[in-house]
Amino acid sequence: MLIELLRIQDICAILALIIMYIVVGYRPPWLWKHIEKRQMTIADIPGPLSIPFLGTRWIFWFKNYSISKLHEVYADLFLQYGPIIKEETLFNIPVVSVVKRCDIERVLKSSGKYPVRPPTEAIAHYRRSRPDRYASGGIVNEQGVVWHHLRMNLTSELTSTRTIAGFAPVIDQIVEEWCSLIKLQRVSGKYIEDLKPLAERLGLEVTCALVLGRRMGFLQPNGTSPTTQALSVAVHEHFLACRDTFYGLPFWKVWQTPAYNHLVRGEEAIYTLALELIESANEETEQSAIFQSVLRANIDNREKTVAIVDFIAAGIYTLGNSVVFLLHLIASHEECQRKLLDDLNNGSTTYLKACINEAFRIIPTAYCLARVTEQDLELSGYYLKAGTVVLCHAGLACQGNDNFQDAHLFNPDRWIGESKANTVSTATYLVIPFGIGKRICPGRRFVEQVLVSLLSNVVREFHFTCIDDLKLQFEFLLAPKGPVAMNFVDQNI
Ligand code: HEM
Repeated sequence: MLIELLRIQDICAILALIIMYIVVGYRPPWLWKHIEKRQMTIADIPGPLSIPFLGTRWIFWFKNYSISKLHEVYADLFLQYGPIIKEETLFNIPVVSVVKRCDIERVLKSSGKYPVRPPTEAIAHYRRSRPDRYASGGIVNEQGVVWHHLRMNLTSELTSTRTIAGFAPVIDQIVEEWCSLIKLQRVSGKYIEDLKPLAERLGLEVTCALVLGRRMGFLQPNGTSPTTQALSVAVHEHFLACRDTFYGLPFWKVWQTPAYNHLVRGEEAIYTLALELIESANEETEQSAIFQSVLRANIDNREKTVAIVDFIAAGIYTLGNSVVFLLHLIASHEECQRKLLDDLNNGSTTYLKACINEAFRIIPTAYCLARVTEQDLELSGYYLKAGTVVLCHAGLACQGNDNFQDAHLFNPDRWIGESKANTVSTATYLVIPFGIGKRICPGRRFVEQVLVSLLSNVVREFHFTCIDDLKLQFEFLLAPKGPVAMNFVDQNI
């Protein structure tokens, strides 16, 4: 009798709990806390409503979101859903985004011998369709042992301190020519209507000089040749098409969409030029350690042309945009220009390097780093299986006051003196404009050399000011939106 009564009481208690759970979502902590924590998986991560087949891409059609403002879209999504969000692409493949420093660090630290960065699928697709030209997807898009083989054989010269130091005189010469070009292009002795195309020409000239071992003439005052013009258009189109095929619906897998056609056109134009240049290699190119190291690399001949294509495509646009951001930030902070000049006159580049770091913190050209996780990970309390695509929003994390004091302020001094240790320790996994780990950008050393030379030359030559605020748009990388007008007045006036 007593046993029966207890059994009825147990059943009633269980029923009461079920009703409480259904009606008010109550979960007794003693029963659920542990289980809940263990069970939170990718399915529980908050994010926009996912529709079967279409996933969450609908937010770009019905909300006021645009792919060209993706950096703002993510800032808004994190505000709405918290520091970890889940989107779903077509066929409901999940993509997780994280913005907390500890999560970003955990993802980036967990990479093994062959870190996996999701490829630009449309490029990989196109390259697979042309086995006559491509033996693989190339260093940027390949994974695993194939990627490792390419990386080992193609980048040792590009990443070598000695090689880049040896190239410094060429960089200085190109930067001086660029300053002369600015002088020639000014209206009324000071006004540059749009710095963007000029910065792009600098990116083209200096990257081609490095990679191809030749001066291409992008800085000639009277414009550029049709080939070089075509290269410039191709590289720009290439990036826009990467963005549209990566973030848009992948109809290009079924038929050739306009975005896919743009991508193919850009890829083919760069390829044709790279091939022409390889075939016409002469004594001048004999001097180029990087060009020669690619030609002599122990890889399939087709890979050599592709490596040149990848270096040009990866280097030019990134560099051009970074130059605009850096100069605009310095132009809008007069006191920085004064300090820069004083520091340079004292034979130091400490402040200059701090300005470059701070510019990358405030406007990172590559503002988000993607990885496919190689092991199961716990991020913000959710358990993710290996093989999940995670976007690490380091650029947005850099805007958080919890990571950097007065994060929105451009303050190069945070990288110097007493503040330095604190800034550097926070920045290790957040200020990562060139990525991190084994897949880090092999062009980093070269770019840093270019920016140091550029900033010191420009500051010595000009007092420069900006006219409008800088507007940004997402073109697979962060890019300036609209013309960037600036005044460049000679220093000695
Ligand atoms: C301001 C200029 C540049 C920026 C901001 C930049 C940024 C990046 C970033 C963020 C990555 C991904 C790294 C990762 O996943 O951890 C990358 C990869 C790469 N970059 Fe750059 N880059 C720049 C210039 C260059 C230049 C000048 C070259 C070549 C001459 C270059 C060649 C490459 C290559 C080949 C990769 C793929 C590396 C791999 O997957 O192993 N980049 N870059």
